Amino acid sequence: MDNKQHWEQVYTTKASDSVSWFQEHADQSLRLIHNTRLGKDAAIIDVGGGTSRLVDDLVAEGYTDLTVFDLSSTALAVARQRLGKHADIVHWIEGDITRAKFPMNRFDIWHDRAVFHFLTDPADRHAYVERVLSSVRPGGHVIVATFAEDGPEKCSGLP
Ligand SMILES: C[S@@+](CC[C@H](N)C(=O)[O-])C[C@H]1O[C@@H](n2cnc3c(N)ncnc32)[C@H](O)[C@@H]1O
Repeated sequence: MDNKQHWEQVYTTKASDSVSWFQEHADQSLRLIHNTRLGKDAAIIDVGGGTSRLVDDLVAEGYTDLTVFDLSSTALAVARQRLGKHADIVHWIEGDITRAKFPMNRFDIWHDRAVFHFLTDPADRHAYVERVLSSVRPGGHVIVATFAEDGPEKCSGLP
């Protein structure tokens, strides 16, 4: 099973609030985003956002340029459905972050909770960093929450 199949299976077989990384509210992420002191028009991408409710809270707070990017179309569909009519103001993009094509300097804030640590191949990490460097504007903010080197060896059954 490849990575995409793995994640599609996760999101088709588990309720979004039953996965081990579920958060009712992504409080720490919200706090870090607020700490940037950027306006509500800040361009924010949630990389590997999955079914995270971060986007719900950002929409509710009035942010207007939001992108949720994920490998799993199922996860994006679940999140879109949950947001209902508010889903239309969000850019939903299905793809692999190591191959994504974003415009230069597109984002003010790059947010990733629990995606980077799946990139166990150095070439994938390099591709990820290249995308950060080109798509986050100079002076922008990069928020990455990932396992520490002495953290768990696996997440969602993947190394
Ligand atoms: C552990 S979940 C975290 C989801 C979300 N960030 C949260 O905090 O609830 C990891 C997410 O990363 C996505 N993912 C894994 N590898 C990816 C890749 N190469 N490109 C884009 N998304 C990826 C998965 O589909 C999944 O939604």
